[in-house]
Amino acid sequence: MPGLENDRYLKALMKQPVDKTPVWMMRQAGRYLPEYKATRAQAGDFMSLCKNPELACEVTLQPLRRFDLDAAILFSDILTIPDAMGLGLYFETGEGPKFERPVRSLSEVQKLGVPDPEQELSYVMNAVRTIREALAGQVPLIGFSGSPWTLATYMVEGGTTKSFSQIKKLAFAEPQTLHLLLDKLADAVILYLNAQIAAGAQSVMIFDTWGGVLSPRDYKDFSLQYMHKIVDGLVRENEGRKVPVTLFTKNGSMWLEAIAATGCDGVGLDWTIDIGEARSRIGDKVALQGNMDPSMLYASPERIEEEVQLILQGYGKGSGHVFNLGHGIHPDVPPEHAKAFIDAVHKYSPQYHQE
Ligand code: CP3
Repeated sequence: MPGLENDRYLKALMKQPVDKTPVWMMRQAGRYLPEYKATRAQAGDFMSLCKNPELACEVTLQPLRRFDLDAAILFSDILTIPDAMGLGLYFETGEGPKFERPVRSLSEVQKLGVPDPEQELSYVMNAVRTIREALAGQVPLIGFSGSPWTLATYMVEGGTTKSFSQIKKLAFAEPQTLHLLLDKLADAVILYLNAQIAAGAQSVMIFDTWGGVLSPRDYKDFSLQYMHKIVDGLVRENEGRKVPVTLFTKNGSMWLEAIAATGCDGVGLDWTIDIGEARSRIGDKVALQGNMDPSMLYASPERIEEEVQLILQGYGKGSGHVFNLGHGIHPDVPPEHAKAFIDAVHKYSPQYHQE
């Protein structure tokens, strides 16, 4: 495998033999690390951090200096695409992301352009190039995007929501308008992820954080259909090796078979499903990523170790498992607990990879 010292993560996604189960954490660069807070303070605000390739590279590498992680993930955000479409993304402390100009009508959707990744989003591509170079083949770099449905949720609601009333109003009262938006977003995501791959991302992941708020039929119609279109549009090989694609729908365990049928390589699991059950349902088709409850990192290191062992045992023998949390790490988790989690995966997994 040319140029990669540690390719366990890529191999596990392709279900090729590995010596240990690879592990990384969703939101591994973030506020639970004091060095992240320091760099963010230096950048000013969150988006200025994302838009500065050197600082974005710095925070990407911070968790790798502390922990024995098997992958790096690009430091950016899923809301870069709507921001590049002109919605005016901003963050208010403690309130999450917001848009100055939410999109609610057909004419507003029609006016949206599909951003050129090397123009409006060149800061993301520059971050990918800077990080790839700084990694120097230590571990692979994961690129990512939001799913069209999840992006549309923020774009139509104008920020975080508990009720999803605006996006669902659009979905059920004016489905053609929402489908036009989702289709544009799928085109934008295809260009964006292919540009990340060309810039050096060795695997890509699509975060469908809000697919799980839909009924089964509506999930397929408004979310999965567009992720399927993206999977079909992605460049799946670069630099002479496969570029695996992982789809993650939070609260999506009811629909694992349909997700696996898109032709993706990996399926991300939240903690609401037993990983052994997920394997028996779709493990012949895809690799699985997950799935410890991120809140388990509040427990003692001993309890964390025990939980890691139970999940490893639940998946069982053989490759095809990328260990992760079922969602992002919480900002108030002690970094030593994250270390206990990562070390436990490497300590207890070799027995599952012996002939
Ligand atoms: O995993 C990583 O380390 C890479 C970085 C990453 C961020 N956001 C950095 C970030 C990734 C992969 C994301 C994805 C993302 N962003 C998702 C999908 C994954 C998920 O968590 O469900 C979503 C829904 C978003 C949108 C978003 N961005 C929200 C809801 C927030 C606020 C969250 C909060 O805890 O305040 C953000 C901001 C954000 N993105 C932060 C980070 C580290 C916190 C910003 C800060 O430093 O204050």
